[in-house]
Amino acid sequence: MALADFLQQLDELAAAAATAFASAHDPAAVEAARVEFSGAKSGQLKTVQKQLGGVDKQDRRTAGMRFNEVKNQIDELHQAAVQRITSDPTEPLSRGGPYFDTTLPGKPHRVGHLHPITQSIEELKDLMGRLGFSVADGPEIEDEQHNFDSLNIPPEHPARDPLENFYLSTAQATGDGSLLLRSQTSTVQIRVMEKTPPPVRIISMGRVYRPDTADATHYPMFQQMEGLWIDKSVTMADLKTVLRLFATSYLGHDVHIRFRPSFFPFTEPSVEVDMSWGDDWIEFGGAGMVDPYVLESVGYDPEQVTGFAFGLGVERICMRRHSITDIREFYRNDIRFLHQF
Ligand code: DAH
Repeated sequence: MALADFLQQLDELAAAAATAFASAHDPAAVEAARVEFSGAKSGQLKTVQKQLGGVDKQDRRTAGMRFNEVKNQIDELHQAAVQRITSDPTEPLSRGGPYFDTTLPGKPHRVGHLHPITQSIEELKDLMGRLGFSVADGPEIEDEQHNFDSLNIPPEHPARDPLENFYLSTAQATGDGSLLLRSQTSTVQIRVMEKTPPPVRIISMGRVYRPDTADATHYPMFQQMEGLWIDKSVTMADLKTVLRLFATSYLGHDVHIRFRPSFFPFTEPSVEVDMSWGDDWIEFGGAGMVDPYVLESVGYDPEQVTGFAFGLGVERICMRRHSITDIREFYRNDIRFLHQF
């Protein structure tokens, strides 16, 4: 075989290999090109090498040197191709190294949501709204007049003890107008009736404060839903209807409620309200018919109007709703807990 023919074959082979490796964009294609050109058994280099023996004897050394050059050149093309697909981030089909696939979905942002207690408050406002109750508001820092006196809680009453309340001034529990963090939302009943003539039908949701030791069912700050309905001939039967409607609507039809006789200075008669939880009962607040003394103290005529009031613990309602057994979970700020609701 003439030297020129042999060299031309090598040139064509080198050009074909350069094209093949340049258009290989994933490991399988690169490997296929390697087998095609450098494969030990039937690669094209091997085929050409076999013809080396047929080259005229005096040209064989030149032909061999050129053969080795092309062989090295193809090895380099292969290594460059491997390098390119494993490290070049613009190679869309590269695998086995860092690469960027624009078709993958993005990383979702974690979206926050309302605290479970806030959710309950919003839902309860909604539900009570459908029963005709509008929402009233009152301050968390109260005076003794609204937290106690107008609610028929006299100065010597144990509920006014400094150890039972968060007073904000030193002249505590003396009836002289000390300020305190309200211990109950019943204060809002007074504030609403002072400036609204009957009839009234309101709820008020908000925080109350008592220096209780935290345990599974107590916390020094918690939320109450206060209700008040004053009109001509409102009765205890209306109270029970409203509370049962609220309980079954919010907690399900298998929830039972019961009244236990009790005492509050601002209602007569007074009851504790329990709801069923499995085979147990859990207390979720107090209620009763508004005491004539309270109606008189805000300028209502007890001969003309009657009404009921109730105050329920929102945390306990929310716990019953979601089967939460420890009130402290609400206020630990553990995102793993809060995220479930
Ligand atoms: N304020 C009472 C408490 O915090 C609960 C309560 C009882 C509210 C009877 C009422 C009521 O409106 O009528 O323990």
